[in-house]
Amino acid sequence: MSATTSAHSGEASATAGPGPATRDRTSGGGETGPAFPDGFVWGAATAAYQIEGAWDEDGRGPSIWDSFSRLPGKVADGHTGDVACDHYHRYAEDVRLMADLGLAAYRFSIAWPRVLPTGSGPVNPRGLDFYDRLVDELLAHGLTPYPTLYHWDLPQLLEDTGGWTSRDVAYRFADYAVAVHDRLGDRIRTWTTLNEPWVAAFLGYGSGVHAPGRQSPAAAFRAAHHLLLGHGLAASALRTAGAAEIALTLNLAPVIGTGACEPHETCAAVSTVDGLLNRQFLEPVLRGRHPLDVLEIVARHGGLDHVEDGDLEIIHQPLDLLGINYYSPSFVYCAPGAPGDLAYPGSEGIRFDRPAGPTTAMDWPIAPSGLESLLLRLSRDYPEVGLLVTENGAAFDDDVRDGQVADTERIGYLDGHLRAAHAAISAGADLRGYLVWSLLDNFEWAYGYHKRFGIVYVDFATQRRVPKESALWYREVISRNGLSYGSQGDR
Ligand code: FCB
Repeated sequence: MSATTSAHSGEASATAGPGPATRDRTSGGGETGPAFPDGFVWGAATAAYQIEGAWDEDGRGPSIWDSFSRLPGKVADGHTGDVACDHYHRYAEDVRLMADLGLAAYRFSIAWPRVLPTGSGPVNPRGLDFYDRLVDELLAHGLTPYPTLYHWDLPQLLEDTGGWTSRDVAYRFADYAVAVHDRLGDRIRTWTTLNEPWVAAFLGYGSGVHAPGRQSPAAAFRAAHHLLLGHGLAASALRTAGAAEIALTLNLAPVIGTGACEPHETCAAVSTVDGLLNRQFLEPVLRGRHPLDVLEIVARHGGLDHVEDGDLEIIHQPLDLLGINYYSPSFVYCAPGAPGDLAYPGSEGIRFDRPAGPTTAMDWPIAPSGLESLLLRLSRDYPEVGLLVTENGAAFDDDVRDGQVADTERIGYLDGHLRAAHAAISAGADLRGYLVWSLLDNFEWAYGYHKRFGIVYVDFATQRRVPKESALWYREVISRNGLSYGSQGDR
């Protein structure tokens, strides 16, 4: 493949703010469909533990995912991230692949235990060397690096002293952020603090299906608060150190009532789950306040003594970009007497629903309209913050036939969501870019290597990369900065 060139070079900046989205533009002699604003940032995303491998090389310390994945029964077939996509050694090949696809941006995460093997204390320069090389390689290929500082791989030694339930970890996180900035700050414009604090707190400490595997509602709420505190402390420290842009990535979803809970304007199930999933994070970060309904649930599940005076001011730092990870809406209905879901303490009397309709291999409903409504809600409620889709994509049961991966369902999924994103931009949403999850098939947490989200297929036995048809389709989308005339999706 040769590198495609487009208006979207590595110069594309998420600050520029897009011009108006247009429809049915004609370019290069062909009819095209929805066109994205000039400067729209196209890219792909990954995370350290899911792709790097090299789990004990160059002084890396153990993380909670190293420990958790070794516990029997926690990850499908006992898979671990020990080798993963071997990206630690193959990063140059992977960057070349990204350049060949015409990507303008690459979102990756930095492994805290590579930088600070014990979580605090002395910096391990060899750990930082890897990201130094990666960033230089990206820049040399015209790609803008978008690092995330925490994508769930907490140093195990910090978990041993309480993990995110301990207030001290928030301060250690800010120290770590500054250590990374000291090394890479001259080449990074946008710093993302956390990826999906809801997942880290409520799957890690609530339902326990993710590392560290604890099951305690009180611990989950404490973890959520300390993650937000860590975000605020790191954001402020990074800003002081000279960072140009600060971002935070949340997993957000419209919550939709089903059955008797539809229409859902007054449904308690909808507002409770919306509070736990969305407002619990959006409101402190962007408005400096706790939603009162959520606070009441937190108080009921272990008290509020972990929330100190002044914390909200720390959490409420100026934010340049809100990263949105969107896969599916949440469907709920009121079910008096239902026990509630461990990942949603406070959801007693609520059931999660799975309406009939198409789903991905994760059994997640495919609903592009959820992305449009989410983007419109965010731009209505928080008009001051720029929006960036930092993850969107789908797992399907891909296989290689005659050297090709015909993943038409993924193309349909991506096309439908990009049309939804375009519709939101046309209606005024300040959406500045779109990063597909994921560049590569990778270690999908508790599902191990069984769920393939990549636009590039990885043969884990040989580490051979095979761009799927979706990757070639995405390259076309990027080169024309828009979609083709006919919908590829089911929107
Ligand atoms: C998100 C995670 C990402 C990946 C996708 C499928 O919640 O941020 O690492 O696992 O889901």
